[in-house]
Amino acid sequence: MYETIEELQNSIKDCRKCKLCNGRKNIVFGCGNQNADIMFIGEGPGADEDSQGDPFVGKAGKLMNNAFDIVGINRNNVYIANIVKCRPPNNRDPEPDEVNMCINYLRNQVLIIKPKIIVLLGRIALTSILGQDYKITSSRGKWVEKNGIYYMPTWHPAALLRDETKKIDFINDLKNVLVYLKNINIDNIN
Ligand code: URA
Repeated sequence: MYETIEELQNSIKDCRKCKLCNGRKNIVFGCGNQNADIMFIGEGPGADEDSQGDPFVGKAGKLMNNAFDIVGINRNNVYIANIVKCRPPNNRDPEPDEVNMCINYLRNQVLIIKPKIIVLLGRIALTSILGQDYKITSSRGKWVEKNGIYYMPTWHPAALLRDETKKIDFINDLKNVLVYLKNINIDNIN
């Protein structure tokens, strides 16, 4: 078990545990506040993320930033990571063996950061974390509590680029997250 995010990040810098290492420019480890109450988990890096080494810096990331601005989330106060840390070729879904090889890095990130709430962005994040029985269409917007962490499944920001009507759901889910966090924090004071 690693004590700090830096130790963990350093330990994976030469990772060759799956075939995604062959095509990567950068490992996209994750970024943000290491004491964050809220963590966002996406699927895997796209081309922009692979080039720059940070998650959600491309088109989908810009949309997510806009949504953060609308509801009042400061990107510097949350932590953002992905299920797989290296870019799947042509932005295909990560394959089960790739997810299995990578998911412990994410588990360790969660153990170090200890978020109160995890927002699962899209189907791959939802099923990789909560299990294959979960469907994004029926789970979206509904809290799931597991081992003391509250999970909010929502649309992947790239889905909002394809279907504008999903933006309202996404914004509402983020607002719900903020209200929930406030309530958790009030309960902890009382
Ligand atoms: N899509 C993701 O799932 N993650 C990123 O970091 C960028 C796009």
